[in-house]
Amino acid sequence: MTARSAIVTGGGRGIGAAIARALTEAGVRVTVFARTHAQIAALVRSGAAELAVRGDVSREEDVANLVAEHERELGPCDLLVNNAGILVRGEVERLLPADFRRVLEVNLTGAFLCARAVLPGMKARRRGRIVNLASISATLGTPQGGAYNASKWGLLGLTKCLAEELRPHGLQAFAVSPGSTDTEMLRQTPFEPEVEPGEVARVVRWCGLEAPDAMTGANLEVYG
Ligand SMILES: NC(=O)c1ccc[n+]([C@@H]2O[C@H](COP(=O)([O-])OP(=O)(O)OC[C@H]3O[C@@H](n4cnc5c(N)ncnc54)[C@H](OP(=O)(O)O)[C@@H]3O)[C@@H](O)[C@H]2O)c1
Repeated sequence: MTARSAIVTGGGRGIGAAIARALTEAGVRVTVFARTHAQIAALVRSGAAELAVRGDVSREEDVANLVAEHERELGPCDLLVNNAGILVRGEVERLLPADFRRVLEVNLTGAFLCARAVLPGMKARRRGRIVNLASISATLGTPQGGAYNASKWGLLGLTKCLAEELRPHGLQAFAVSPGSTDTEMLRQTPFEPEVEPGEVARVVRWCGLEAPDAMTGANLEVYG
């Protein structure tokens, strides 16, 4: 698919910033979206993205504003990359219910809200792709991963459902599952880096721009 413009959530740093840069280098006009304005603004200043919109993926009004601003400035959204994510680790009986809910709100509900906001336009144009950043934690269990793994298994399930719903409309959905990738998030864990953000970004770019239309619902593992 030749995407003219893309939204990358959580594009302020780490894997999202690398995805924004990779798409921009491929000629796509990119909006980055996150809560920390300084990081997304710096990305635009560096030329790795064209538009920065501040907000929280778990807030419906922020997501509506994101899509409206993107369409006004860069035109219809051809590619949504649901990359925003948080990690709260802890054994189940020690995890606070508020933390469990927050991880699901950001990692899973956030992706649902963003997909919901771009899909009417994509369906009307019969053009568009959604790439969800799942994880190695989307297909296995990890000690202290009760909230995070549940959110990523859910995101993989959402991807599979999207693929089936979107097939008749000529749209595609993918999951990309990184292993331990060298970012701020990984530094909250005891795991050593096995993957560079740029390597994940190349797989996301391939899903968004190059994968054949006949391919949808796949989970691409980038474990290193
Ligand atoms: N690093 C790994 O080893 C690894 C492995 C597998 C999967 N992943 C997944 O890859 C994605 C990117 O992770 P990363 O390692 O690059 O993490 P990161 O360095 O912590 O970056 C996360 C990005 O998401 C944004 N974000 C967090 N909460 C948000 C919210 N509520 N609304 C909007 N943006 C939000 C952050 O910006 P603000 O804080 O400014 O909002 C930041 O830009 C995540 O979905 C993560 O689960 C990472």
